[in-house]
Amino acid sequence: MPLSFTIEPMTLDDLEAVAKIEQDSFDQPWSLQSFRTELVRNEVAHYLVARVGGKVVGYGGIWVILDEAHLTTIAVAEPYRRFGIGTALLKALMDKSLSLGARRISLEVRPSNHAARKLYEKFGFTIKGVRKHYYFDEDGLVMFCELGGGGEDDDEPAS
Ligand SMILES: CC(C)(COP(=O)(O)OP(=O)(O)OC[C@H]1O[C@@H](n2cnc3c(N)ncnc32)[C@H](O)[C@@H]1OP(=O)(O)O)[C@@H](O)C(=O)NCCC(=O)NCCS
Repeated sequence: MPLSFTIEPMTLDDLEAVAKIEQDSFDQPWSLQSFRTELVRNEVAHYLVARVGGKVVGYGGIWVILDEAHLTTIAVAEPYRRFGIGTALLKALMDKSLSLGARRISLEVRPSNHAARKLYEKFGFTIKGVRKHYYFDEDGLVMFCELGGGGEDDDEPAS
């Protein structure tokens, strides 16, 4: 069954829920304070949350510097995965990047993170390099995607 959700800017009130999802999703989670610093002090940072009935169930963020965007994080709470929320968050973050003048977007991902890699590949991200020891136990794949290429259909990721 389709799940109804909204995508909205992250606020300070969302931080507890965001930090909980972060803890459940990553081996080396960012702290609540790190997210707070991103929201309050980092002028190049932009964060969104996904809500189901008002409850935060996912989030993601970017840094945009001139024509380059970087996806800093994206996660969806486990019970809400595979409903298209990750897709909607990534699409919204890519749209935001484009609207702020970015022409391409990069990210790092674990080679073993098949779910995330599938998601990124659907949007046209390709592997452009490897960052040795990027994670404590694994290298990081560096992926890039051109934004707003004027391709076939910018509304939906390629399937
Ligand atoms: C990666 C993540 C954000 C995806 O969120 P999601 O809401 O489940 O994503 P969607 O429902 O939009 O799925 C989009 C596509 O990703 C791929 N995908 C997602 N989960 C998958 C899984 N468990 N196995 C294989 N492919 C998967 C599929 O191609 C899927 O499209 P489909 O459902 O049409 O087949 C989520 O799995 C997550 O939070 N993981 C933990 C945090 C994380 O690893 N973040 C990325 C760090 S680089």
